[in-house]
Amino acid sequence: MSVKRTLLLIEDDAGAADALRRVLVNEGYTVSCEGRGDSGLGTAETINFDVVISDLKLPGLDGLELVKRLHQAKPRLPIILMTAHGTTETAIEATKLGAYDYLLKPFEMEELLDLVEKAVESSRLMSEPVKMGECVSARNAIIGNSRLMQGIYKEIGRVAAKPITVLIRGETGTGKELIARAIYQHSDRSAAPFVAVNCAAIPETLLESELFGHERGAFTGADMRRIGRFEQASGGTLFLDEIGDMSLNTQAKLLRVLQEKYIHRLGGREPIPIDARVIAATHRDLEKALHDKQFREDLYYRLNVAVIKTPALRHRSEDIPNLVRYLMQIYGADFDIESPSIQPEALQFLQNQPWPGNVRELENVVRQVLLLAGRYTISIEHVREVVAKVGEAVAGGNQSIAAGIGTYLSRARRGEMEGVHATVIEEVERELFGQAIELAQGNQAKAARWLGVSRITMREKLNHFGLHPGQSNPAD
Ligand SMILES: Nc1ncnc2c1ncn2[C@@H]1O[C@H](COP(=O)(O)OP(=O)(O)OP(=O)(O)O)[C@@H](O)[C@H]1O
Ligand SMILES: [Mg+2]
Repeated sequence: MSVKRTLLLIEDDAGAADALRRVLVNEGYTVSCEGRGDSGLGTAETINFDVVISDLKLPGLDGLELVKRLHQAKPRLPIILMTAHGTTETAIEATKLGAYDYLLKPFEMEELLDLVEKAVESSRLMSEPVKMGECVSARNAIIGNSRLMQGIYKEIGRVAAKPITVLIRGETGTGKELIARAIYQHSDRSAAPFVAVNCAAIPETLLESELFGHERGAFTGADMRRIGRFEQASGGTLFLDEIGDMSLNTQAKLLRVLQEKYIHRLGGREPIPIDARVIAATHRDLEKALHDKQFREDLYYRLNVAVIKTPALRHRSEDIPNLVRYLMQIYGADFDIESPSIQPEALQFLQNQPWPGNVRELENVVRQVLLLAGRYTISIEHVREVVAKVGEAVAGGNQSIAAGIGTYLSRARRGEMEGVHATVIEEVERELFGQAIELAQGNQAKAARWLGVSRITMREKLNHFGLHPGQSNPAD
């Protein structure tokens, strides 16, 4: 899973550059450095980086000009600008010119790391192509050749090129985010930014400012202007994930933007024209939310024009064998298992499961089954064991790690199992990261600090185990 992300740091102060580089390398990034604006621009234009971090005041070419030119050359490359307090207005100007965000010096390393992590994720969403079809070997593929999935591909094709708002609905783990990215990549805006906002992961009070921005003094704590994600996504695509979790107030504002195509920053009078293509997604039952007065009817009808409904995995179980083979290939490579294989009965067993967590749950099971089977052909016993365990974990948490270890060891002694170490570590980690993120109420930075791991590790583990903190309260 751990692809090394590459950063370009443009900073003329050698001491500062060195300190920043060390922190970033320590977090697992590969960092290149440039000391001048002009050479920094040249490097960023010729080499592909995930994110560029640049100082504002630079010899050769200043940061603002750099943002402008680099954004023109590579609109999908996130640029973070570091600026001193006196130059805040310039920094805000930079976000309008296309900078991803800015940092005011002096800043805490935590702040920088948070921002870099978000920018890296944003870069990943834009640049990793989503492939579609029956058997694709790349990551980020939408697998499935069933009638239902063929319908989905057609719909993606139909809506992608039109400048319309799209709503993607479906149970958790059915691939809504993948489909949103596929629509973006097949649209005529694919060269422009894809800005994603997870409405469930941002506290209600901050979401409006995140989306629409604010003017200085708009509320207590708003000590300077902020450019919102709508403005940043102008010309591009805005992905509003978990839109069913948005408060009624914010829904009303969103509706207005969709209808009138301009925004007001919070506390701002001036209407700002917005040209952003909105793709929204939710796993919630919107009709029930309407009935419970948790979702506005007018917004519902406004969004209900182009809807893509992602099918539950149990309704397209003929795709399961292909999905399993695809996942075996991907995780086999991760675990260094060469050409992993599976018995037909094991595949059949997987195909007959109900999969309430859909593809994400299937992913977890395949990963664990691979770890359990190691280099051996995956048998129905392997699969049964993992499926039962996952069911148990869902029902009431992992009761006893010690008991599990005992069982594995005796099995290993009888020659029935290999890779006990990897299996146990995997189980312990799942429990550890799961509990930490739950206790931290989804705050990844907090959970990472408690565990003493980097944010990158935290994010990777959460993805790996399919722990999705934004949706940890199953209110539906
Ligand atoms: N058709 C598919 N083929 C291959 N992988 C898939 C498919 N659908 C989903 N996945 C994988 O399953 C996982 C969950 O997908 P995704 O995050 O897109 O789901 P989601 O519908 O947004 O879920 P949630 O509602 O929980 O946010 C991801 O790792 C994704 O790559
Ligand atoms: Mg999702």
